[in-house]
Amino acid sequence: MPENKTFYITTPIYYPSDKLHIGNSYTTVAADALARFKRLTGHEVWFLTGTDEHGQKIQRSAEAAGKVPQPFVDEIVAWIRELWSVLDISYDDFIRTSEKRHRETVQQMFSKLYEQGDIYRGRYEGWYCTPCEAFWTARQVDDGNCPDCGRPVEMVAEEGYFFRMSKYADRLLEHIEANPNFIQPASRKNEMVNNFLRPGLEDLCVSRTTFNWGIPVPFDRGHVIYVWLDALSNYITALGYLRDETLFNKFWPADVHLVGKDIVRFHTIYWPIFLMALGLPLPKQIFGHGWLIMKEGKMSKSRGNVIDPMVLVERYGSDSVRYFLLREIPFGADGVFSNEAMLQRFNTDLANDLGNLLSRTVTMLERYFDGIIPPSGPEAHPSDRELRELALETPGQMAELMDKLQINGALEALWVLVKRSNKYIDENTPWSLAKEEGKRERLGTVLYNLCESLRFISVLLFPFMPRTPRRIWSQLGIMEMPQLQSWQSLQDWGLIHSGLQARRTEDLFPRLNIEAELSSLLGEAANTNNKDLPQDQAPPPQQQKDAATTKAKDEETQKGVVSINDFARMDIRVGEIIAAEAVPDADKLLKMVISLGTEQRQVVAGLAKHYTPEQLPGKKVLFLANLKPAKLRGHLSEGMILAATDESGKVVLTTVEGDPGAGSPVS
Ligand code: MSP
Repeated sequence: MPENKTFYITTPIYYPSDKLHIGNSYTTVAADALARFKRLTGHEVWFLTGTDEHGQKIQRSAEAAGKVPQPFVDEIVAWIRELWSVLDISYDDFIRTSEKRHRETVQQMFSKLYEQGDIYRGRYEGWYCTPCEAFWTARQVDDGNCPDCGRPVEMVAEEGYFFRMSKYADRLLEHIEANPNFIQPASRKNEMVNNFLRPGLEDLCVSRTTFNWGIPVPFDRGHVIYVWLDALSNYITALGYLRDETLFNKFWPADVHLVGKDIVRFHTIYWPIFLMALGLPLPKQIFGHGWLIMKEGKMSKSRGNVIDPMVLVERYGSDSVRYFLLREIPFGADGVFSNEAMLQRFNTDLANDLGNLLSRTVTMLERYFDGIIPPSGPEAHPSDRELRELALETPGQMAELMDKLQINGALEALWVLVKRSNKYIDENTPWSLAKEEGKRERLGTVLYNLCESLRFISVLLFPFMPRTPRRIWSQLGIMEMPQLQSWQSLQDWGLIHSGLQARRTEDLFPRLNIEAELSSLLGEAANTNNKDLPQDQAPPPQQQKDAATTKAKDEETQKGVVSINDFARMDIRVGEIIAAEAVPDADKLLKMVISLGTEQRQVVAGLAKHYTPEQLPGKKVLFLANLKPAKLRGHLSEGMILAATDESGKVVLTTVEGDPGAGSPVS
């Protein structure tokens, strides 16, 4: 990757009308991973985020809270900054649109556009969606509702200033067609071109008069500048445009504006046209990512289903939360957020794969070499070469994927190395080498290679999980060695020195008890979603938890559905029948012994009319392992074999395809 290249990345600036939820945090975490990755690969990065503080939506939210807009937003902005701090967001600048540096520049821009004739005075009559701060034509409005968010639009009729969008529409279309990367993913480009540009652009109203929380039009103080013109300009006002332009000259045009899919239209139509009118180059790319949704649909305060990122970070740490957001959902597509999926990922990817790799390696180093990293001998086994080659290939693969903003793909590529390293342990069985005479050098080589692979993994992990690498370096004894932690150091295999002192201290990611976590998170959610109720209306936490649980349960029971939590309580596994016999004096019952891999269970089931005891041994069946034990005709039964009954009443066992080992979990 070339050095000294600049990279300018932005997030949307958030409305401080309320606290942000995990969905809003998603863009910022993704932008942070990209920014950190580019810094790691030698780019000079400028990473901008901030808050979009003006407009009717904020003014109304402040009024509803009985506050004046500025102190109202100040409080929420402080919370947002705190959130970015706990999520380890490494922004270079945080712009607030209520800041003087922004307000003054936006006024200058407005005057310039007016003076050159791109903005003219007129009268607006039409529809407005306040939650989206968007104007809509009668043709676009959908049964009185906003085509974007589905909420009711309002009719507005007011004097205003208009921007000549139509003047630039053809140029924009040409630019979009000539630059396939300009709008990504491609599906969003097609939507913009076909739904908005081709049907023709109407001039856009760029001022409002019916409220005053905004930047005044400098030459007509009764008007405030339309909040999207105000907000979009943040990407250049923050760089000092029309003031001190040092940063502007260095970083504009932006390499990528990351935005959610709902605001692609503003960024790919309004923003480029404003820039064209100002005579400025266009951003290189606008990437519209998908949304985090809940199983029941959109995440929203009014549905009471928002996930508070602060709570998750407090419980699981920012690295784990970041990992889940970045790994679970292909960046670009919508993805379902669920606590279950998150906890599963923690246990499989972080505790089992990564955590175990480090703890196995360092434990064996301590056991066999007093923690001193041994020298590496010659490559003696194909797995040595495979591990080395994979480690050396992974950085390039990840860089390519990150360039395409395939963040989850980059993490997947990294986990191929993590898993390969674990497999390397199983293939080389260091515990057997330790017992064999004359295998000490080989044992040292295996452990050395694992340390080196962990070094690669930790360096590559940094952009995504900035805290974990230091914890790995500390256990490997390379904390104070920046030369082993750089991108350049990943060009060579074998840089970690023998003789370093490794020390096992902590488990990186202790396994979680998923069931216990889920019920505790349910209680937290009830708290979070009640937080904004006045004190005297909010029930005490335990009661909220109980009420939330009961309410949810009642609704589910009424609908005859079980939640995923209910299902997760069933411990269903593959069981292998290893013995079966008739139960004396009970002509329907058979008594069986079932193997679950690590243990055996006795089960009594009503199968005697459908199977003979001889037909059963060797069959693999689905087995409910945590059913409360019971006695049938005096015989203990510790679980249940699942079976289907056909129309004639014949019972057939639910067997499994392939050959999963006895005890394999079923979900
Ligand atoms: N203020 C405007 C942006 C102006 S940028 C010049 C705005 N703010 S917002 O606070 O409503 O939304 C900020 C971002 O959060 C948007 O990109 C939006 O898509 C994103 N998200 C809101 N809910 C989301 C999810 N549930 N999932 C992912 N992103 C989500 O729009």
